[in-house]
Amino acid sequence: MSIETKYWPAESPGTGIEEAAAAIAAGGVVAFPTETVYGLGGGAGSTEAVRRIFAAKGRPSDNPLIVHLARRASVAGLAKEIGAVEAALMDAFWPGPLTLVLPVREGAVSPLVTAGLDTVAVRVPAHELARELIERAGCPIAAPSANRSGRPSPTLARHVLEDLDGRIDGVLDGGATGVGLESTVVRVVDGTIHILRPGGITREQLRQAAEGLADVAEEAMPAEAGAGMTAEGRAGMRAIDGGAGTTTERRSGATDGRAGTAGTAGIDRGAGTPSGEAPRSPGVKYAHYAPRGEMLLVTGAADRLPAIVQEQALQAADAGRRVAVLSCAEHVALYRADAVFDCGPRGEPEKAAQSLYATLRECDERAIDFIVAEGYPEDGIGAALMNRMRKAAGGRELSVR
Ligand code: TXA
Ligand code: MG
Repeated sequence: MSIETKYWPAESPGTGIEEAAAAIAAGGVVAFPTETVYGLGGGAGSTEAVRRIFAAKGRPSDNPLIVHLARRASVAGLAKEIGAVEAALMDAFWPGPLTLVLPVREGAVSPLVTAGLDTVAVRVPAHELARELIERAGCPIAAPSANRSGRPSPTLARHVLEDLDGRIDGVLDGGATGVGLESTVVRVVDGTIHILRPGGITREQLRQAAEGLADVAEEAMPAEAGAGMTAEGRAGMRAIDGGAGTTTERRSGATDGRAGTAGTAGIDRGAGTPSGEAPRSPGVKYAHYAPRGEMLLVTGAADRLPAIVQEQALQAADAGRRVAVLSCAEHVALYRADAVFDCGPRGEPEKAAQSLYATLRECDERAIDFIVAEGYPEDGIGAALMNRMRKAAGGRELSVR
């Protein structure tokens, strides 16, 4: 069943916000800009609104939502307790792209928001329109990214409409989002900060803000972190553990192992979660950010990338596929393909982060069925960028030695 999806343009944010806030206050679901990506918001206390969010996205019900607040003071109404480390992180990064997982106060949000966990994920977005919308709606807003489940997150209002027109009450257009990738999700356990999902706040920033107070764990969340999950949640996690660790060769249709035997490159990274390691967050086990075409990520020393990338692109073209190359600015002139995207300089991964999701969507629009992408250095926002690129590639990665 299709409903009318209202569009509130950027030029008239005043009325748009009023109508959008009224829709949320009345139990509706509305997409809005944040500094990371567009979110699909509904009142966090309204089980009916949250049900509509899951339905509109086609999102599995065991993947919990982030609750968005207009101001830090409101967090006390959601969380049972706030530790010193969490407080320091709020001081340092709110408003901003950091989500904290905290023990939930019973009855504070609809149980659908937390998907049966005893924790709630919370953030205060650094986007005026988002905070004003929450303020006017008069309630915390539960909001996942405003894409159909499995699709790249929306960084423009147009992307929201591509996925959700006819399924939601409206979209508030605030132009392009800033960061382009989602917030960093963290949880503090026994005085150690665990990054559940890399994002807009970098590991380096977290380390600096928590200096003398807490360490940032190098590894994924320990298995005990699932203690607050439902039995179904834990069973799902084990199933995923067992199925992960697949090799790139097995996943790869396009490379057919040729580069691996040519002596120039080796395939060395499997998909998803290495075996024996617990998933870091319920959302981690689901396919994400995926373009419709197949994607291959090529990583390694910058000067070795172009030969391998072009070879892969040509092979795929010879096989009759429509091919796109995602290139750093430095290499863009070297490539021949149906489409070549300039993702920005190697030293500025924030540019590539801003454009990644829009580029993946454009590949879909142009009916690209094979994407070869250059990897970026993994410092700073590069860590989150490469996390999303690996997910988009579904684990298909060639590492050039
Ligand atoms: O930047 C963002 O975070 C965007 C904007 C709209 O705020 N939102 C977003 O939401 O990316 P979503 O639903 O696409 O991702 C939420 C992530 C998922 O990986 C989910 O599993 C995790 O947060 N999460 C939510 N609640 C959690 C909890 N209680 N414990 C652990 N992880 C949680
Ligand atoms: Mg999402």
